[in-house]
Amino acid sequence: MKLLPKKIIGVRGGTNFTSLTINRTFIYANFIMIPIAFAAGISTQTDEINDTKYDVAEQQFIELLTIENLDKKLNELVQVNAFEAVLSMAICAAYQKGLGNPAAHRFVQRILYRINRLNLFWYDDLRHYTNERSPYLYKIRDQIETAWQEWELRKIDVDTLQKLDVKEALTERAAVDLDPPLSQESRYIREQMTEAGYRHLLAIGSFDGLVEGSRLSRILGGAANEVQCTLFRVLLEEYGNGRFSRKHSTYFAQMLTEFGMDTKPENYFDLVPWEVLACANHNFLLTECKRYFLRYNGGLTYFEVAGPSAYRNYLAAAQRLGLSDAAMGYWELHIREDERHGQWMLRDVALPLVEMYPEQAWELVLGYDLEKLMGDRAGSAVVQSIRATQQSILLVQT
Ligand SMILES: [Fe+2]
Ligand SMILES: [Fe+2]
Repeated sequence: MKLLPKKIIGVRGGTNFTSLTINRTFIYANFIMIPIAFAAGISTQTDEINDTKYDVAEQQFIELLTIENLDKKLNELVQVNAFEAVLSMAICAAYQKGLGNPAAHRFVQRILYRINRLNLFWYDDLRHYTNERSPYLYKIRDQIETAWQEWELRKIDVDTLQKLDVKEALTERAAVDLDPPLSQESRYIREQMTEAGYRHLLAIGSFDGLVEGSRLSRILGGAANEVQCTLFRVLLEEYGNGRFSRKHSTYFAQMLTEFGMDTKPENYFDLVPWEVLACANHNFLLTECKRYFLRYNGGLTYFEVAGPSAYRNYLAAAQRLGLSDAAMGYWELHIREDERHGQWMLRDVALPLVEMYPEQAWELVLGYDLEKLMGDRAGSAVVQSIRATQQSILLVQT
């Protein structure tokens, strides 16, 4: 994720997600320096015009989300046409040429996330869910997902995947991803990330860390067997076996609290790079569509197997910075638990699914590879964002 600062920052409160107003000029959070431009690449005049246009369209969409009887009023709402025109342009700009326009990616992923998040309950005003089953929102979601997923799939050689020995392919991949060589980005985190960079990492990480396991919960119901029970076991551990104090998200909240940061889910939404949003949205797609059950479980296998190596980087950084135990507890916990979850996912979920679905088993590898691709892309974006934040601070100090 690439957050390139254009101007510099200060300190102010967080974001109320549901009544979000976007301010690209100055965005502050407790003790966090936040770069202003969220687009990757060098900022240009054109980018700024696009940013403004996307911000206005996002506000229009936010208004639509809470209108009573939205689907019956579509013809009379002026926001609808304006929003849809920008969305169509953004989809073209993001997916029709090469890597696409970063501001367009960001806009599209944010809109998609605003629809997807209605699948979860946030313990907020019940009126926020007024349109959770709106055909109009489904239409917008499908329009985005169709173009976006085609674009993602173009990066994968599906023909080759279909010819693989799936058990062998998964086992080999998991062995490599359990303990990969240190990348340049991992070294940066371990050796150069400052405490401000660490807080920035927590702010972005809180987007998923404070609600982790939520999407897994969406695939657990249905016929009973060993695979289902293993998935339940993973979920139970993520949820602290039903004890709030042991829930993984509680450990994440404790890390935030150590720095006086906000523990409200989505508080730092504006900091989240589109590459990270894409991981969440991809997860929503796979868990809401049972047809993608194999893909999801392939992806979760990668996620649990590869987690500890990333968390070891964050832990090493926290130890180098001399932070408290509470400021790094979540990483320590996951290094232990995700090693076990990774083994469960491979041995007791993915490999048995290969036997249950021999014809479609290659979809497990597809899910695994896509999760890795998107996860690596998100990880790079996060590191770029941290670098940008640290540079912003240096600029202020000099
Ligand atoms: Fe966890
Ligand atoms: Fe886990």
